Amino acid sequence: MRQEGEAVNSLQAVIAKMPRIELIAGPTPIERLHRIEEALGNSLGGVRLFVKRDDVMGLGGGGSKLRKLEFLLGDAKTKEADTVIAVGGRQSNHARLTAAAAARCGLKCELMLTQAVPRYDTDYQQSGNVLLDNLFGATIHDLPSSANAWDHANARAISLRAEGRGAYVTPTGGSSPIGCLGYAACALEIVEQSRALGIQFDRIVIPNGSSGTHAGLAAGFVALEQAPSLVRSFCVLANEEDSRDTTAKLLGATLQLLDVRASVDATEIDVIGSERGSAYGAPTASMMRSLRLMARCEGLLLDPVYSGKAFAGLLAGICNGDYAPGHNVLFIMTGGSPGLFAYRNEFAG
Ligand SMILES: Cc1ncc(COP(=O)(O)O)c(C=O)c1O
Repeated sequence: MRQEGEAVNSLQAVIAKMPRIELIAGPTPIERLHRIEEALGNSLGGVRLFVKRDDVMGLGGGGSKLRKLEFLLGDAKTKEADTVIAVGGRQSNHARLTAAAAARCGLKCELMLTQAVPRYDTDYQQSGNVLLDNLFGATIHDLPSSANAWDHANARAISLRAEGRGAYVTPTGGSSPIGCLGYAACALEIVEQSRALGIQFDRIVIPNGSSGTHAGLAAGFVALEQAPSLVRSFCVLANEEDSRDTTAKLLGATLQLLDVRASVDATEIDVIGSERGSAYGAPTASMMRSLRLMARCEGLLLDPVYSGKAFAGLLAGICNGDYAPGHNVLFIMTGGSPGLFAYRNEFAG
């Protein structure tokens, strides 16, 4: 078996060859949730809780999508794009961060936003991420829920190219193998921080929307010769089975891109569907409780669509004894706090 250092070096070397634009200044911090541990008391069962602060990044309000955009915009630059097109729901964090990153890189940005979530109040339609999309100078194309945003984006790219412009369409949620490289690189970052802190993380917990965060992290850990089940996600968009399949496919394609000859079966991928609720973007009581607990105990912000649901799943798992006493669990705070302003009605009072 190869030494761990060798696997680290070869993953670093492969990633270093990929086109990348720096959008994040250095590793995001890892912090212990002392006050939540105290609040959970005996029900914590001796589990130690940590967060990786991917919500703390200098650009555009920060969040997980910047990791993917470092590689996607790197690819866009090599293809001489002058315009980036992103697709998403009205309150897409990926769209907002694409707009911010495009501004930083001197690229134009167009967003194809659908009414994926049936919320038509002013807060949802005008505040939160949409307000920031406008501030970052993006052109917004409003599409109905029935529209295929991906087709619209590609049609727009074709017409821009016909005018002699260079258009680059980013994948939904930034989740292509190229986008997943951002979280494969994050796996390296976690391994280095783990060594520096002297803490071995037994489980890493994340939300799963378009599955690129899970696939990228798991690909990184597999490249580092660790089990893909180190990563557990709570799906919030598709159901559990579909999310697991999408994650497995993306993970396989990302391993290929990384030139890692390992195969991972879908049964080795840990996706849990208990927190999705009635639909994508529909608030749940457990999301509201977890979000308030994090805010009131730690002064930290989860978001109502992704991280709030995933953290609720982590808390439920702790109470059910899913994590062994003495285990170190790392929750990745993926950002998305602008979405809170779109859900003002839920949180008022
Ligand atoms: C704040 C936040 N967390 C998590 C996710 C999920 O990441 P992925 O789409 O890679 O599964 C998203 C995706 O939009 C997000 O905006």
